[in-house]
Amino acid sequence: MSLLVDGIAFIFLLYTVHAIVQYVNTSVVANINFFPFFPGQQRDLARLSTPREELYTLITGCDTGFGRLLVEALANENKPVLAGCLTETGVKVLESSGRPNLIPFLLDVTNPADLERCQKLIQSVCPEGLGAVVNNAGISQGYLVEWSTMEEARQVLEVNFLAPLAMIKMCLPFLRRTRGRIINISSASSIIPIPGLSLYSASKSALSAMTQALRQETKHMGVAVCEVVPGFAYTNLISRITAMITEKRGTVCKEIQGAYPENRIERSLAFFNGSYRRSMSPDFVVQAIQHALFSRFPKVKYQVGKEIPLIRMLKALPEVAYEAVWALY
Ligand SMILES: NC(=O)c1ccc[n+]([C@@H]2O[C@H](COP(=O)([O-])OP(=O)(O)OC[C@H]3O[C@@H](n4cnc5c(N)ncnc54)[C@H](OP(=O)(O)O)[C@@H]3O)[C@@H](O)[C@H]2O)c1
Repeated sequence: MSLLVDGIAFIFLLYTVHAIVQYVNTSVVANINFFPFFPGQQRDLARLSTPREELYTLITGCDTGFGRLLVEALANENKPVLAGCLTETGVKVLESSGRPNLIPFLLDVTNPADLERCQKLIQSVCPEGLGAVVNNAGISQGYLVEWSTMEEARQVLEVNFLAPLAMIKMCLPFLRRTRGRIINISSASSIIPIPGLSLYSASKSALSAMTQALRQETKHMGVAVCEVVPGFAYTNLISRITAMITEKRGTVCKEIQGAYPENRIERSLAFFNGSYRRSMSPDFVVQAIQHALFSRFPKVKYQVGKEIPLIRMLKALPEVAYEAVWALY
């Protein structure tokens, strides 16, 4: 009996040490790599050149959230930025800052004509090549799988997966010339898919898988590929999720709603509202992206967020325990 207790205590201790190591290791606040050979924290050995801060960084989804904050941070340091915005208002707000090195332009990442215009802009503004592209634009659509429409599924895959893929294909010739960098913003839901965020989790998992494979494919060119994996952060994205779930009550047919527990929506809202209240400042994510952009040795993956150690622990659980934890959701 005491052997069993000792065994459980030992496993618990291992998990705790693992969590602490993960926490320190994923700390982008300090930007110190304590355990360079720890899984998930390897430096990307593809970067053969020093980052060149005088080159343009192309960022998508700069109207709000991480994208907007990143543009402001780079513009404050006078670093050149091509800021793709979905809306005219987004472009005007950035234009009004009057920074000479900041070029805002309209870019719906799902629109091939916008991509073509973007390519021409790069050719005219920085024919020598791009420093980096940050695939930041993203949306969350849908709710539980059965409650989501096929249109929502298509949209979320289009914006979160196919559009970054198209951007990468368009930018690679400009990145090859400079041995530049590709930075994809995935999500902690690519580590553990979240029920109720099924479509979003699927799209970010696809992006994460593509990012990992791409890194091997472009290594020989000296083009580094980094993945930033944020947990919950205060931005419009989360408030939109709760609004969308609430809306589903009125749009999904009663028969489907009746097949789920009566308080399904309330439990989901409690989960997302709680996550929103506990979420981190988006500044941490922006710091991680800046590290990926300009550090001499960028990390392969930046897992940023208070819940990351817990998520990694959940992921390491045996299936039975993992299922039991989700039953509480
Ligand atoms: N916040 C989080 O907790 C969190 C966690 C994990 C990952 N992420 C990821 O981080 C990235 C940035 O999100 P955020 O949190 O900063 O949320 P956000 O404020 O909603 O930013 C996303 C931006 O993308 C823009 N966008 C949407 N569709 C677009 C399109 N077709 N073309 C171009 N731009 C488009 C949005 O424009 P509009 O505002 O005009 O729609 C918005 O400005 C996303 O990829 C998101 O999935 C966020």
